[in-house]
Amino acid sequence: MSEHVKTELCNGVLVLTLQRPDKKNAITGAMYDALSDALDRAETDVAVKVVLLQGDGDSFTAGNDLADFAAQSKSNSDEESPAFRFVKTIGNASKPLVAAVQGNAVGIGTTMLLHCDLVYLAEGARLVTPFVNLALVPEAASSWLLPARIGHVRAYQMFALGEPMDAVTAVACGLANAVVPAGEVRQKAMAAAVTLTKRPAGSLNATKNLMRDIERIQAQISAEGDLFKERLKTPEAREAFAAFAERRPPNFANLPA
Ligand code: COA
Repeated sequence: MSEHVKTELCNGVLVLTLQRPDKKNAITGAMYDALSDALDRAETDVAVKVVLLQGDGDSFTAGNDLADFAAQSKSNSDEESPAFRFVKTIGNASKPLVAAVQGNAVGIGTTMLLHCDLVYLAEGARLVTPFVNLALVPEAASSWLLPARIGHVRAYQMFALGEPMDAVTAVACGLANAVVPAGEVRQKAMAAAVTLTKRPAGSLNATKNLMRDIERIQAQISAEGDLFKERLKTPEAREAFAAFAERRPPNFANLPA
């Protein structure tokens, strides 16, 4: 349970809404757990035919809460992080996932879209994966899925230069289905989700299964997860998190890798 994730079942569509708009829907551990619990429920609850992901306010999500990253960078806990649980869970999701995205979709906000089956972007939406700016590595199998989808150099531009991709380019690259006016993006995504609820569930399930290499996805998530955990504790990453909190540019010069 998280007060910042609303879960509603409407006509077979499980709608998951990020509700932390004052923090641009940055995702905390409790929010990841709420999302994972909802996706787990979707797997077993026959009433859930489709899952729809959306966010309140002017941003889909600013990605992982950076204060949580800063805390993890100082922790010695060996427990699986809620973020890691979430990426494994979404990587295994067998029912259709639909996303309605407005504003910034940062980090996991973009990488979760690689696990969605239909993605609608509002005009002005921006996909950003600034993992290297944060001295981290990509997650959610994006280090494999993103170059596979858009090619190495465009993926590298997003990962290593941290350059945002605009909505029109994202559609042209195959990362999303359509760009729609901001006021219509939720309706568009919901209409598509409702259409899917009327398709034969067994056929949808088999089709998605054929289209995704789950074993490869989980292997990539695991390899990324090991590196991510290591990177979180580096002086470079600590500097990146401190810089964000202090609203200044990071200075990586003279830091050990
Ligand atoms: N974690 C925690 N808090 C975050 C956050 C994050 N990822 N992103 C934004 N916030 C908070 C800000 O600290 C600020 O809080 P405050 O009002 O208490 O100071 C509030 O949300 C608004 O953010 P702000 O930066 O003022 O909004 P903006 O419109 O100028 O910029 C972003 C929006 C998303 C471009 C910018 O906030 C950003 O770059 N965030 C970090 C994104 C990131 O690196 N995520 C991790 C990816 S792995």
